[in-house]
Amino acid sequence: MDAYLFDWLNLLLRWAHVVTAIAWIGSSFYFVMLDNSLSRPESDELRSKGVDGEMWAVHGGGFYHSNKYMVAPRWRSLPENLHWSYWESYSTWLTGMALFTVMYLFNAGSFLIDKTVFDWSPAAAIVASLAFLVVCWLVYDAICRLFGEREHGDIIVGVAVLVLVVAASWLACQLFAGRAAFLLVGAMLATTMSANVFFWIIPGQRKVIAQLRAGQSPDPVHGRRGKQRSVHNTYFTLPVIVAMLSNHYGWLYSGEHNWLVLVLLMLAGALIRHSFVARHKAHVQGRRAPWEHAVVGTAVLLALVVWLAPPPPSAEAKAAAAAAAVAPASYAEVRAVVDQRCAVCHNAAVQQKNVALHTPELLKQHAQAVYQQTVVLKQMPLNNSTQITDAERALIRRWFESGAAVP
Ligand code: HEC
Repeated sequence: MDAYLFDWLNLLLRWAHVVTAIAWIGSSFYFVMLDNSLSRPESDELRSKGVDGEMWAVHGGGFYHSNKYMVAPRWRSLPENLHWSYWESYSTWLTGMALFTVMYLFNAGSFLIDKTVFDWSPAAAIVASLAFLVVCWLVYDAICRLFGEREHGDIIVGVAVLVLVVAASWLACQLFAGRAAFLLVGAMLATTMSANVFFWIIPGQRKVIAQLRAGQSPDPVHGRRGKQRSVHNTYFTLPVIVAMLSNHYGWLYSGEHNWLVLVLLMLAGALIRHSFVARHKAHVQGRRAPWEHAVVGTAVLLALVVWLAPPPPSAEAKAAAAAAAVAPASYAEVRAVVDQRCAVCHNAAVQQKNVALHTPELLKQHAQAVYQQTVVLKQMPLNNSTQITDAERALIRRWFESGAAVP
């Protein structure tokens, strides 16, 4: 029953997390597009009012005419009813943290730790995982403060953040189960994004508004800093999302150089994002969109496809498979494997994800999922804690492919 309710909690938090993330990333993408699509206002009236850029859009049966005032409208005081965007970000972070806690921290022994990677106590692994989130933010923030305002600041910050992400990915993959490491690096960047909103972007905007309402001229540093941080956020979005999705693909995070796989995936995401960010500006200025960044990103992905391809079966394996095809695996053989490799976590008492495998009927009922999890995705046994062999996975494959017979 507990496991069942836990699964509901997991589902509801995940649902909320995906919905809030869509709202956040959606509004972030929208404002990046809007900002980069602005052109100089056509009418003198708008310019005299202090409008710096305008964009016309058509959507949902009407036309929208957005105006951007670089500092503030000159022709009127700030409206009381000002639309803010920050709960999208905070609620994404809060639901994400809750989901991380329910899945990874409550089950640190099986989810965070892979003893073949690093053998430590659940408590230590939990503290270390939380430290990743905090330390990454502190280092990133220090980088931005130190170099952000200098000449060529954007380049220096960009390179330093890249080094930080590579180092964190490498370290996470030396300490945590591959799946947890990938997720953690994603969570680390996502925490940085939310912290940017919470500690800099929104407080900066509040200061500007307070100064305007007090009749002072606002300090432009807040605008510059807010803009810089939100540009960083936009480059983090695709890397964060792919790190989160990687959880479903065991072959991504279980290899020896998994940290490099993660870095390349995220790099491809940032490159592809760049083409989309720059595309609008290029369009307004009548230039060609810089698609070469997206092309390089796609080439990186293709290189990953080739790199991670499973090796072709050896001659012996082929012969064995041919022999096995004639003699499909029996239930008794599969039963022995399941009892040895799966039963600890999927039995009458413990039923991870509501999956129990201790009777022939249950094994039959879950045959498709067993095949998918063990043979195709290689997600089970979790972190291969029970050390299933390739031959045993092949056995399950043959049993399933020949009809998953049970007595
Ligand atoms: C150390 C504990 C452990 C072992 C051993 C283990 N599992 Fe799991 N299993 C889990 C956990 C935890 C989940 C839930 C994973 C999640 O939520 O992503 C799970 C989920 C599953 C699911 C459901 C997946 C889904 O997303 O619907 C199947 C099917 C499954 N396991 C099959 C197996 C099989 C088959 C084996 C043996 C080859 C096995 N498991 C070994 C812990 C384990």
